[in-house]
Amino acid sequence: MNVLVIGSGGREHALAWKISHSKSLDKLFISPGNPGTAMLGTNVEIKSRDDYLQFCRANEIALVVIGPEQPLVEGLADFLRMNDIKVFGPDQNAAEIEGHKSFAKYLMKKYGVPTALYKEFEFTENENALSYLSNIKYPVVIKADGLAAGKGVIICKNSDEAKASLKDIFVNKIFGEAGDKIIIEEFLEGEEASILAITDGDDFVLLPSSQDHKRIGDNDTGKNTGGMGAYSPAPVVTESVLSEVEKTIIKPVLSGMRKEGRKFSGCLYAGLMITSEGPKVVEFNCRFGDPETQAVLPLVNGDFLKLLYSSATGKIDKNAVDYSGGTAICVVAVSSGYPDKYLKGFEIKGLDNYPPQIIIFHAGTKEKEGKVITSGGRVIGVTAFLDKNDLQKARILAYRALQRIEFEGMYYRHDIGMKAFK
Ligand code: AMP
Ligand code: GLY
Repeated sequence: MNVLVIGSGGREHALAWKISHSKSLDKLFISPGNPGTAMLGTNVEIKSRDDYLQFCRANEIALVVIGPEQPLVEGLADFLRMNDIKVFGPDQNAAEIEGHKSFAKYLMKKYGVPTALYKEFEFTENENALSYLSNIKYPVVIKADGLAAGKGVIICKNSDEAKASLKDIFVNKIFGEAGDKIIIEEFLEGEEASILAITDGDDFVLLPSSQDHKRIGDNDTGKNTGGMGAYSPAPVVTESVLSEVEKTIIKPVLSGMRKEGRKFSGCLYAGLMITSEGPKVVEFNCRFGDPETQAVLPLVNGDFLKLLYSSATGKIDKNAVDYSGGTAICVVAVSSGYPDKYLKGFEIKGLDNYPPQIIIFHAGTKEKEGKVITSGGRVIGVTAFLDKNDLQKARILAYRALQRIEFEGMYYRHDIGMKAFK
């Protein structure tokens, strides 16, 4: 079958890479893609919904895989499905699980899914929010309700910080409209982990667990980013934690979504805190994680495209893939300044000639006059993967590969994967 992957980041490069190994693939297109995906298929520039439809018809696209949340939340999957195109990714009303945190919290409360205790406030309720902040325990977490490119979360150590953040959100509008409503929630202690569930809305397959590193600096310091690196599997997700996640989180959420008339098909991403009371949900995303996908997919055996196609067409083929051990780590190299302002347009050197255990996933890269240059904050992800469960060795391989890569202002964390050894 012919497949179109939508997106241009490291996640989409990893999706295209995995799909390119599927026996069932004929032609692969990526829109807009990046220089990495150009090595696996054909990059195409498609601007509007109608153009997507026309492209899918003209190229007999059997499956569209939508990578990022924005088009899902805006209803691109609905539009294509309405026109008889098969899509991997949820409808708009199901993507709301990421699009509005208040909806995700409502759902979890209603169906008894473990998560942080919370209260929500509209910007018209500034006074109520202020008085609430005077009477609670700290630290506390304030979140914009809408999409804020992974940056809409502020952890506040005391009421002064919380009140200043409230002003930033409601008055200075640092998150724009996404911050017209906020969630104030309890701070959860524990270790984070990510679970990706591939689902047809009823049944599901869990991919190997992973752990992201959200902060810019070593030892989880500095600002939040989209993710600086990930490894898989995450030892904090033991067999018993995983079965608890299935029972108390994934199953009730999928059945809750059905009951709400928002059947979720696609990849449900559960961001978890493994607390002393068990796993609790920090957030849901309506798509694959980035960079988790770059660490998880190399460990998945079998026909990944078959898995996506079967779940997109109503009956997931749970035997399409399996995981037979092994370990993977992805370290992201970013442009200096990220997650704030950063420069771009620098040549990237050292991208080729790696052993088979290393994959260079492109994220913020672009081709210019035959050279690959930087074009985004997160520039590339270096993944090392092994058949054996030897994260120590995988780390060494990934960091060794990173030493060969060069671009002006290149920065990466040095401690990706270290938590696994605690
Ligand atoms: P989110 O965008 O919801 O994933 O939040 C970004 C990051 O903020 C998470 O990965 C956590 O590290 C942190 N965070 C969010 N909510 C909480 C919480 N309730 N307790 C502790 N940390 C949190
Ligand atoms: N790595 C976090 C995310 O994809 O949202």
